[in-house]
Amino acid sequence: MNVLFIGDIVGSVGRMAVKKVLPSLKSKYNPHIIIANGENAAAGRGITAQIVKELLDAGVHGITMGNHTWDNKDIFEWIDEQPRIVRPANYSEEAPGQGVALIKANGKELAIVNLQGRTFLPPIDCPFRKADELLDSLRSKTKCILVDFHAEATSEKIAMGWYLDGRASLVVGTHTHVQTNDDSILPGGTAFLTDVGMVGSKEGVLGMERTAVIHKFKTQLPVRFVVDEGDWHFHAVLAEIDDFTGTAKRIQKIRLTETDWLML
Ligand code: FE2
Repeated sequence: MNVLFIGDIVGSVGRMAVKKVLPSLKSKYNPHIIIANGENAAAGRGITAQIVKELLDAGVHGITMGNHTWDNKDIFEWIDEQPRIVRPANYSEEAPGQGVALIKANGKELAIVNLQGRTFLPPIDCPFRKADELLDSLRSKTKCILVDFHAEATSEKIAMGWYLDGRASLVVGTHTHVQTNDDSILPGGTAFLTDVGMVGSKEGVLGMERTAVIHKFKTQLPVRFVVDEGDWHFHAVLAEIDDFTGTAKRIQKIRLTETDWLML
């Protein structure tokens, strides 16, 4: 199966870009299952029920989250009823929502797992131990498993890639919004990319309006960040996975600017 994973979608600019780009990517790469990180989809922070619907209507089959999961408080009202969204599995046992979902589309089945790192992020349960706990039982249900490891430190993400090699089909990093150039298939058959990158304005700082960010760095004063409205860029990764063994056969980064898309 072909799996397309779209990096952190930032605000309305990012959502618009997803809707524009997906039809051409679908005809070019024939992805059976499309997953996207949506934790910044609502004005850069969190996600709403309406935006979940918008992304699913655009062709996304499953949504992963991260440290901004709870930023829109209405999520507490609907996350338990939405089977296509996962929040980090290593949150408290008492947190609502789920950390794992089985996504079925176009005759294929993919388990998606969301984990969050602990380096330069709030203290939570160990993502490595949580992965052990989840993957052993998941693999008895399906061999095709995607892990979105939402983490700040490249070292923690690379360590997770090696830790899960041979146990997950695809391990991707999100959160840092800048696509890394280390796409590879590890010796055990796991496709890996340290960070997929983002979808949103390329004229801001990680998708946010740059003047406010620069002001914050210069002054250390509290500043309100807003989503930048500039030209967008779109980052994703495509993996071809053997349906029976769960082994990755191919991984390919995708990077498109608004200008590239206009010329498609
Ligand atoms: Fe994040």
